[in-house]
Amino acid sequence: MQSSSKMFTELLSTLPKHNHNIFSVDLYQYQGFWYDSKILEGVIQVQQQFQALSTDIIIAGWPKTGNTWLKALCFAIATRKQYHQTKNPLLTNLPHNLVPVLEIDFLNNPKIRETLHHSVLSTHMPYTSLPKSITSSGCKIIYICRDPKDTFVSFYHFFRRLHVLSTRVGGSKTDLDSSFHDEFDMFSEGKTTNGPYWDHVLGYYKASLDRPDMFLFMKYEELVEDPVFYVKKLARYMDKPFSLEEELEGIPEKIVKTCSFQSLSGLEVNKTGKYYVHESYMLDNNTFFRKGNIGDWKNHMTPEMAKRIDGITSERLRGFDFSF
Ligand code: A3P
Repeated sequence: MQSSSKMFTELLSTLPKHNHNIFSVDLYQYQGFWYDSKILEGVIQVQQQFQALSTDIIIAGWPKTGNTWLKALCFAIATRKQYHQTKNPLLTNLPHNLVPVLEIDFLNNPKIRETLHHSVLSTHMPYTSLPKSITSSGCKIIYICRDPKDTFVSFYHFFRRLHVLSTRVGGSKTDLDSSFHDEFDMFSEGKTTNGPYWDHVLGYYKASLDRPDMFLFMKYEELVEDPVFYVKKLARYMDKPFSLEEELEGIPEKIVKTCSFQSLSGLEVNKTGKYYVHESYMLDNNTFFRKGNIGDWKNHMTPEMAKRIDGITSERLRGFDFSF
């Protein structure tokens, strides 16, 4: 019998591949989406072995659309009766270490669920690649998306830090500018990790139309606009609505404050801690907290770039009652 790593290596050799030369990483196209080999290994492991429970709440979203924030909010909602406010694990842990990412943490530890005291999990996997056990278990999915222009800008800065571009290109402004333009082309063509972005959003959006009870579909911008409203909505959706007493005590507002960009980014753990992805991949926790603004794309994109992204968006979303 072949070992799973041999089977995986054989699978890789059959997949379309492109060298994401800006960040010097090979990406493989699997079921219509691009991944680096380690994440793809995790995706396949989830597809083959993960067993969802009907009580699971799965947070899904393309990278850089607000996953960290949403995880913090859902964790705080789910565990609010377990911890005294001053002992909340969010004060000493990166949200990703409290709400595991299936394709990363399940690969590192198949028994990850046993280490949790709640049922919130997360993934960046596209809807069409989710294992049957998730789509048929009756569990709930909370999906977050964001204006593609801000998503790209956030994505670019995140990966630039990850792949130490500055060492490779000397960090000069010219090189940085050209890497931004090159990466922008890749994003527009869908050839970035977890891309194409639009297919990811549409996969979940279409599924949410078919099965509205299974999905809460959210936008980063709406969450920024009225976080208290959405925290209450999240709590109801998670079957953990706030009682009248909790509302009078201002618990939803306290959760919003604890999970705000200012609070989370100011914590020691998020300023100096590290996030372990796998043996050769460790991130600074602070890479997950950059600006937290809407419309930062205006500081980075030319009007032509914005027009190109908006054109792709309106083309892809044509016919759907949905816009960013
Ligand atoms: P920017 O790079 O635009 O600042 P993800 O969590 O999916 O990786 O998304 C990261 C984006 O969410 C980053 O956006 C980050 O700054 C922002 N973010 C992180 N925590 C946040 C919070 N508590 N409130 C609002 N935005 C937050």
